[in-house]
Parts: sequence; C-alpha cells; structure tokens
Amino acid sequence: MTRVKDFLIAAVVLAFGRRRPSRARPAAPRVVSAGTPDRRAENVVLGLFAAAALCAAAFIAFYALDRLGSQTQWLGLARGLSFALLAVACMVIARRLVVAEENAHPYPEPEHPDEQQTIEQIVEESGSRFTRRKLIVLAGSGAVGTLGLAALTPAASLGPALDTEQLDRTPWRRGRRLVDDAGQPIAAADIEEESFYTAYPEGASRELLGSPLVVVRLPKPRGIVAFSKICTHAGCAVSLYRKPTFAQTEPRPALVCPCHYSTFDPADGGKVLFGPAGRPLPQLPLFVDGDGNLRAAGGFTGRIGPSWSGVRQR
Ligand code: FES
Repeated sequence: MTRVKDFLIAAVVLAFGRRRPSRARPAAPRVVSAGTPDRRAENVVLGLFAAAALCAAAFIAFYALDRLGSQTQWLGLARGLSFALLAVACMVIARRLVVAEENAHPYPEPEHPDEQQTIEQIVEESGSRFTRRKLIVLAGSGAVGTLGLAALTPAASLGPALDTEQLDRTPWRRGRRLVDDAGQPIAAADIEEESFYTAYPEGASRELLGSPLVVVRLPKPRGIVAFSKICTHAGCAVSLYRKPTFAQTEPRPALVCPCHYSTFDPADGGKVLFGPAGRPLPQLPLFVDGDGNLRAAGGFTGRIGPSWSGVRQR
C-alpha cells in the first residue's frame, strides 16, 4: 500500500507540480520538509523515459517492417520493455524524487477546508526536489504518448483504409502457371477428386491478397476449377472442402470458410450456399498447357477479398 501511495503522489506531483503560492494566501509553515535536489535521479528518470519512448517507437517500426524473423517475439519484447522502463521511471521518481515522510494524524473531517489546503500543500512541497520538472513532465508525456501510439498501431491490420485499390490488383494473367507450396508446377493429372489444393501464381508474390487459390476437381463432366482462397465475407482463408455425407442437406462438394462457415458451391461459380458471405467466391478460369500443367486463362470473375469498402458498387 505504501508503494501505491508513493506512486500516486509521484504522479500527482509530476502532473500538477509545485505551484507558486498565491499572493492572497499567507505563506503557511511547511508540512513536508524541503528535500535536497537530486539531479542524478532526474537524469536517470529522463533516460528511462527516453528509453521507454524508443522501445515503443521500435514496436511501431517492427510492426511496419513486417518482414523480421520472429516478429511476434520482437513486438512483445519492444512493448514489454517500454512498459517495464516506464514502471522503473515511476519507481525512481517515487523513491528518489518525491519527498516522502510518514505523519500520524487523527482521521480528518470530510471536506474540511483546512485539511484540503494541507493536502494541496503536501503535494506542492513534495515536489521540492525537482529542479527540471517541466523537462521530466515532457519526457514522461513523450514516453506515454509513444506507448499509446504503439497500442493503436495494430489497428492498421484491420485492412487497407487508404489504398483499397489493392483489392483490385491480382497477379493472375492469362498464361500464368499455377505452382504449389514448393514452387513446382501443378499438373492437371495430379489433381484428385475429394481433395483440396492450394496454388500460387508462378513468379509473383504470395503475400498479395489476390495470389492464393483453392483448386479442386469436381465429379465428371465438370473437371478442375479454381477460386480465390480469400473468403468474401471477412477475408479469412477458405480452407475446408466439404465432402457430401447426407444427400438431403449436402448434395455435392462445397468449399467452406471455417471462420463463420460461409459455404460456396464450386460447381456453380462459387455461389454462396450458406453463411454470412454476401457474394460468390471469385473464380479463376484455367486451361491445361502442352506439358499438362495448369495455367490461368484470364483474371478473376469478380473482385477478390472481403465485402466492404463499397466492393459491390464496383
Ligand atoms: S470470413 Fe469467411 S465466413 Fe466469415
């Protein structure tokens, strides 16, 4: 409890600091003894605030770079360190910069004006060790502000806010070969019924929203079909291929997104059979080249990605 009290007094002293005594008010005798200024402790606090701000800025940088190995660990380390440094700075302020002493008094009357004035005086006088209060408040505000910014940074993952045009860009063009995880061309003969394959565009980035495909072979005479792997509901990966087990409710195979169970019909242009998705899964036309490998015969039949940002108006 004493520590908590110390921290609270430290925060109040930093925020409101020592105010000049009002001219109208006669100078009252000190309640808290005047402390000795401690510039070394102040330097430590300034250094800790600066390091905390730096760690929070590093979190934002790691997030923006998005290509570090073990990125989650780096993000956690940066933010954790920032909080830890901020906590240590508060501890140093409470222990070394706020004048602290314990006085026993009888329990005061609530709202007693004299008592209020004494508390104000205690807060004012507890800050007597600070010689650069404004600088320390500025450094503390910088550290807390940067940390707040770091806390807001992950909101950028909610989707492109400014450049929604990137949902219109896909690497699929007529003639582009489909390759598997290992970058090997996918032969039409290797695609079996009742199985589900993920394919990527040869020679293009797999990180693009418009890159991954789901490829399935439908019962004859339909053959092999491919669709964007990005669910048109909220953008999860379509990663289940439902095998019919009960003809009354599951008459034929279907592609399923496990997030909210949107179900798409690969035999009917990716039409929505069930679930919250509001539009079909965009299909990619295919052809088989002279070597028996699958290639795109053109672009997607519709806009890929989740249905927001006016996608239906385009
Ligand atoms: S994201 Fe696919 S069903 Fe919701």
